[in-house]
Amino acid sequence: MDLIAQIDKTKVPHHVAVIMDGNGRWAKQQGKPRVYGHKNGVKAVRETINAAGNVGVKALTLYAFSTENWNRPKAEVKTLMTLLLSSLKNEAKELIKNDIKLQIIGNQENLPKSVLKGLKKVIEDTKNNKSLTLTIALSYGSREEIVNAFKNISKKVVNKELRVEEIDENIINNHLYTFTLPDVDLMIRTSGEKRISNFLLWQIAYAELHFTNVLWPDFSKNDFYNAILEYQNRERRFGKTSEQIETTNEI
Ligand code: FPP
Repeated sequence: MDLIAQIDKTKVPHHVAVIMDGNGRWAKQQGKPRVYGHKNGVKAVRETINAAGNVGVKALTLYAFSTENWNRPKAEVKTLMTLLLSSLKNEAKELIKNDIKLQIIGNQENLPKSVLKGLKKVIEDTKNNKSLTLTIALSYGSREEIVNAFKNISKKVVNKELRVEEIDENIINNHLYTFTLPDVDLMIRTSGEKRISNFLLWQIAYAELHFTNVLWPDFSKNDFYNAILEYQNRERRFGKTSEQIETTNEI
């Protein structure tokens, strides 16, 4: 039976986040430069977006470039930026056709102006789409995001727009880059590394984690469906007991 047919459509995670890892190692295995791996990673991005759409995931967040990635060799950074922009521009028609809304999260100040301008056009053209929100984390670091939230909340307190007693989880959520998104239900990391690498630290509080040895350029629709199936076979308790979950069904 097809993997997709085994998926329970009533228990699909709303928000899936992916750490796309292993492009460099994949290229090395083929005796090619690292950027060859990134170029082939674009196909896996397309597969993942299609697979997420096919099963009814509402939000997909991809870690494309971290704040730490600025320290990579200049040529690699330049290729990655160009690749991101060209891929998303090329995919714009497909995004519109499939009712996918594009957004980016991260520290936009560091992005080259041309990249930002090109991305903003695709963001504008897809802003009313509803089926799936595709969020690309670009120049993103979770701790930086949290620091930024602290600063903005503090400013509101100083300006008397907010009282300290009013600060709760909702207020913090609303000051993160991801304020429009629900918590992450499932986080996937490829390439066998078992780390979170400063990605969505607040948002994964109750997420299920799925690690696979597949290197990112080889990641296929079936790999995505396998991650969803594994997620569906786990019991999410949110701190409750199994018995409570069975009787209240409150998940
Ligand atoms: C990690 O592999 C991957 C990245 C840092 C870049 C991911 C970017 C893409 C797949 C390009 C296209 C993206 C979009 C959203 C269109 P690595 O270089 O860290 O691999 P390694 O750990 O094997 O060295």
